[in-house]
Amino acid sequence: MFERLERMPDDPILGLMAAFRADPDTRKVDLGVGVYRNDKGETPVLDAVRKAEAAVLARQTSKTYVAPAGNAGFNQAMEKLVFGEGHPTVKANRVRTIQAPGGCGALRVGAELIRAAYPDAVVHVSTPTWANHVPLLTGSGIKLERYPYYDSATGGVNFSAMMEGLEKLQKGAIVLLHASCHNPTGADLSDQQWRDILALVQRRGLVPYIDMAYQGLGTGIAEDAFGPRLFAAELPEVLVAVSCSKNFGLYRERTGALHVINQTTTGADAILTQLVRIARTIYSMPPDHGAAIVHEILTNDALRGSWTDEVGTMRARIARLRTAAVAQLAKAAPQEDFSFIARQHGMFSFLGVDKDQVRELREKHHVYMTDDSRINIAGLKDDNIAYFADAVAQVVK
Ligand code: LMR
Repeated sequence: MFERLERMPDDPILGLMAAFRADPDTRKVDLGVGVYRNDKGETPVLDAVRKAEAAVLARQTSKTYVAPAGNAGFNQAMEKLVFGEGHPTVKANRVRTIQAPGGCGALRVGAELIRAAYPDAVVHVSTPTWANHVPLLTGSGIKLERYPYYDSATGGVNFSAMMEGLEKLQKGAIVLLHASCHNPTGADLSDQQWRDILALVQRRGLVPYIDMAYQGLGTGIAEDAFGPRLFAAELPEVLVAVSCSKNFGLYRERTGALHVINQTTTGADAILTQLVRIARTIYSMPPDHGAAIVHEILTNDALRGSWTDEVGTMRARIARLRTAAVAQLAKAAPQEDFSFIARQHGMFSFLGVDKDQVRELREKHHVYMTDDSRINIAGLKDDNIAYFADAVAQVVK
């Protein structure tokens, strides 16, 4: 039976992790997978996480099942983190939340929910979007189409083209938006642009599906949630998939949540039963450990304070590296304009070089990035920025 199956190509992002690890060159620079790194190039366990983890383990008396929707305290704490204290839609009891195995698990559960409601649903994603959105969403059987987003000439959002694209969508079409720190471009929507999209979504009867994987790493914990908070307040139906991988540094613990907003509380109750059914048919229940840690952090003032500081440190380091990268690139390749990197947010930017140049950077200079030239800014360090900039200068000359 299995002879019929062919070997799959490497994952465009995760495949790079293995290639980087196997490279013995000491100058190698990993700008591939989207993992935060500190000045030493490490991804340490956050202090708040270590303390919360110790408290969780000391208190834990059983490993019995929690619940198909996961840890109820975590779900509630996530609603407050994502939508803010006292959000009117949360207060009106119109939000239902299910803990999910990471942002990927949340995105997939959301896709399955959409398909259950609407088997011919089409989800529209930005051009470009995170590589894994495609298999994650289409794996549920829903169709995927694209709307214009990134403007490579400016490094920003081509907002008029985006609005024109969205304007043409049919009522009920689902639009996937990145809350902040757009992956892979780093080009984010301004608050006013979120407001303009809201008006269009209301006028055209579209359904937003927001992916928030980097809350706190762009401009701030509240600032990065501007879009989800606004949409949740103003629209009858919204889905928000959230990841705790990056902002809590819980990558391998697979911690995330899916929030679904419905027009009525009875409708919301029905949706929760659907979410639980979907989870049961895929993985039954989400893993507990990461969610227990996040719950502990978000409900303990001291831990929450220390986590907020640590997220602030990550955000500040990324912003500082963006400015430093622009300065070094300007020195090494003055004929090219990389200033857009400093105007973008989060871990990613498109360098804007072609596939062959990406290969040359990897093979000749041991600088790793995905084929589309996405770089993880957090992979840079004070002692490798100049090396990186010189390597780029050599391939673009
Ligand atoms: C990335 O975009 O590199 C991260 O979100 C990791 C992943 O799973 O792709």
